[in-house]
Amino acid sequence: MTDPKTAQRVTTPQLRKSKAEGEKIVMLTAYDYPSARVLDAVGVDILLVGDSLAMVVLGHENTLSVTMDEMLHHTRAVCRGRKRALVVGDMPYLSYHISRRESLANAGRFIKEAGADAVKLEGGRKRCDLIKALLDCEIPVMGHIGLTPQSVNTLGGFKVQGKTARAAEELIKDARAVEEAGAFSMVLEGIPDELAAIITAEVNIPTIGIGAGPACDGQVLVFHDMLGLYESYVPKFVRRYEDLHGKITAAVNRYIEDVREGSFPSKSESYHASTKTREKLEQRYSFGQEDE
Ligand code: KIV
Repeated sequence: MTDPKTAQRVTTPQLRKSKAEGEKIVMLTAYDYPSARVLDAVGVDILLVGDSLAMVVLGHENTLSVTMDEMLHHTRAVCRGRKRALVVGDMPYLSYHISRRESLANAGRFIKEAGADAVKLEGGRKRCDLIKALLDCEIPVMGHIGLTPQSVNTLGGFKVQGKTARAAEELIKDARAVEEAGAFSMVLEGIPDELAAIITAEVNIPTIGIGAGPACDGQVLVFHDMLGLYESYVPKFVRRYEDLHGKITAAVNRYIEDVREGSFPSKSESYHASTKTREKLEQRYSFGQEDE
């Protein structure tokens, strides 16, 4: 029987079909209920509760310190706000590195406790056994190769990957292996567009690019980057669709001015006592209110 709540929902087989039909997939990060509601309503296909949460929402320097509990807290909020989009929970650093048992249990929490439809994890060939084990537990997996931010310390910074022919060949092997292990899709981050085009042609699962050029089957951006809410650093690949930092600054400046000059709240933005109560109060107190 079809559950009416999930009947319209984007599914992993549908995403595969989108690739086959040449239909671009739209993914954005989301971290809370109101943004999930807006993104879902306008038709974003995949909401990624990214571990970029650590940087753009929690103010950390990189993604390494965000915890499972923080990720689950935000994933729950996103799941409450979506109707149609597929929600992917991003497995944080060290939640899938220590033991198979712990990795499966952590991935399971995204599905069982938070309501996500799938998980994402970083790494190529070295993650393939885990991807297969997750599939054995009926947990769909999105891969992530190229510039993998959880490897910032071993990569020596947030650096574009696959720039030499040899490094490109290694990433092509990773992409094939991730597909072979059973991932339903993979993020290609921070690689030359030529390499992303080759990988996209080589694999049958959709590639979702970020800083990987236009040939990918879909694109993802960080919500705060595309809307101009994260000022610290704007990578070359980000297109800013709005300057929300500027808009919020202007709006809050107007509010400060209104409060300080006493024009907020106005009469119409206030509650009023009944005429009878008001008359009684006026006999006893002076409260400096002028009649409308
Ligand atoms: O955490 C995140 O936002 C991501 C995207 C950049 C793909 O992993």
